[in-house]
Amino acid sequence: MSEPARPSRRRLLAGLAALAIARPAVAISVAETCGRPGAGGLSAVACRRGIWFGSAVASSDLADPAYAALVAAQCALLTPTWEMKWKPLRPGPDSFDFAACDRLAGFARQHGMALRGHTLIWHMEMPVWLLQSLSPASWEGLLERHMQTVIGRYRRLVSSWDVVNEAVEPEHGRDDGLRDSPWLRVAGPDYVVAAYKLAGRFAPEARLVYNDYGCEHEAEWTRRRRRAVLRLLERLRKADAPVHALGLQSHLRVGDAFDAAAFGRFLGEVRDLGLVPMVTEFDLRADRVRGADEKDRKTAALAKAYLDTVLAAGCDTVVCWGLSDDKSWRAAEEPDDRPLPFDRQLAAKPLYQALEDALSRSAS
Ligand code: XIL
Repeated sequence: MSEPARPSRRRLLAGLAALAIARPAVAISVAETCGRPGAGGLSAVACRRGIWFGSAVASSDLADPAYAALVAAQCALLTPTWEMKWKPLRPGPDSFDFAACDRLAGFARQHGMALRGHTLIWHMEMPVWLLQSLSPASWEGLLERHMQTVIGRYRRLVSSWDVVNEAVEPEHGRDDGLRDSPWLRVAGPDYVVAAYKLAGRFAPEARLVYNDYGCEHEAEWTRRRRRAVLRLLERLRKADAPVHALGLQSHLRVGDAFDAAAFGRFLGEVRDLGLVPMVTEFDLRADRVRGADEKDRKTAALAKAYLDTVLAAGCDTVVCWGLSDDKSWRAAEEPDDRPLPFDRQLAAKPLYQALEDALSRSAS
């Protein structure tokens, strides 16, 4: 009996490629990153509780070998501070510039980390051509092409996408509490629902996050923001839009009131909507405190109170907005502040210990 014809190498490779394309993507998990080479520091502590720990990073930060080594040792998850926003990615209506974002993605892959997709819609860092070409007729096509291209390129590396960032602004006086943004002006309030449905089409396996600030401390303005955020999340849920988590930017400030019980009740309402709370841009200003030691002491105390509350509510992600004080996004205007876990010499501070203690204590 003659041997069955052996498939040619070309046909075999074509078949494997088709299989890979057909195979539904599976979102990268925290467990996958826990076994990464060189895993240590806060991400190792967090891993033991099934929690992501990471940091925002600018691709330019990685030119400093000492800082790159600190990021590699401490983080299982990276958020591009800038590189995945419209302005850097989109020099023109028909062009994408992935160079800087690819550098960050390459670093993450090299170190077995995941990325956060930050962010697909934001009212800031919008290129001029986009502001000029957004219209009721054009916005959905522009958004669809952007999302399909960006999500398609990074979806195997991204654990969660900030589909929309900072869409509420109660001070703008709208009944729905939404921000009077360029997107809202051309598309109306339902642009948020449309955005999550589009993202869910392009990455059905991914966690889709609504990300915002100003819900953490206790004040009349933050209570108004919490109500507006909940209202938006309810709108998304009612429209069957795929939203899975609330990203709390968590830019805290020592001296502003923090009411753990009230914040815990807010987080309970978030959980009742079926959403996971995430800490996405953690840093703590102590600009009103004099002296490094006193800054560090009060910063660590506020961090403990905050992290205990949010981790008790099921938060499974803690991302700092930088690792060392010189990388703070406010370093230029507040050079003496100490908002991050490491100092300018990359030495751990009391905030590092507060993070380690909270991540160790959190129930799995
Ligand atoms: C900031 C970055 O840190 C800066 O480097 C950039 O120039 C502007 O954006 N909330 C957000 C982040 O969601 O995207 C912002 O990051 C900080 C506030």
